[in-house]
Amino acid sequence: MPRILVIALVAVVVVVSAIVGRSQMTSDQPKIQIGGPFTLTDHTGKQVSDKDYAGKYMLVYFGYTFCPDVCPTSLSIVGDALGQLDADTLDKVVPIFITVDPERDTVELMASYVPHFHDKMVGLTGTMAQVKSVVKAYKAYFAKTGNEENGNYTVDHSSRTYLMGPDGAYVTSFAHATPAADMAKKLAETF
Ligand code: NI
Repeated sequence: MPRILVIALVAVVVVVSAIVGRSQMTSDQPKIQIGGPFTLTDHTGKQVSDKDYAGKYMLVYFGYTFCPDVCPTSLSIVGDALGQLDADTLDKVVPIFITVDPERDTVELMASYVPHFHDKMVGLTGTMAQVKSVVKAYKAYFAKTGNEENGNYTVDHSSRTYLMGPDGAYVTSFAHATPAADMAKKLAETF
């Protein structure tokens, strides 16, 4: 092959790999925008924000205490997964249950509910505006269904469990009914 062609070929390869490398870098850059600041009230009645959990992983689930099935299942899985972690790993995570039904889920109700699933579990409630804000930030979803007038409504809601990093950034999320052992394995690998 003539020398000039070899040089031209090398130049093309260098330019192409630079372009590919650059596009990979830029495509990595927009991090998934899930999560963000929140202000809510915990199950002890204390006003808290996301900053209170900075430095720890957060395992966040949205639901409500009257939920007949989905929430107890999801929160039991979180509790079981945490039960499978060693003490050092467990210390790095805060499990958080955020209600999407703040009108019924009072501080007192949250306080009687969350310890059923894990003694580290934090229950967060607040005003409807605060709840809507955090639900939106996490790209979660909820909607009341049924008879709102007599209080016999249910709330449809998304049922992913979000893992957020010590810096507050999204790490991953778990689909509903992920086996506890799988969740525990992922947590142990990540921390
Ligand atoms: Ni539920």
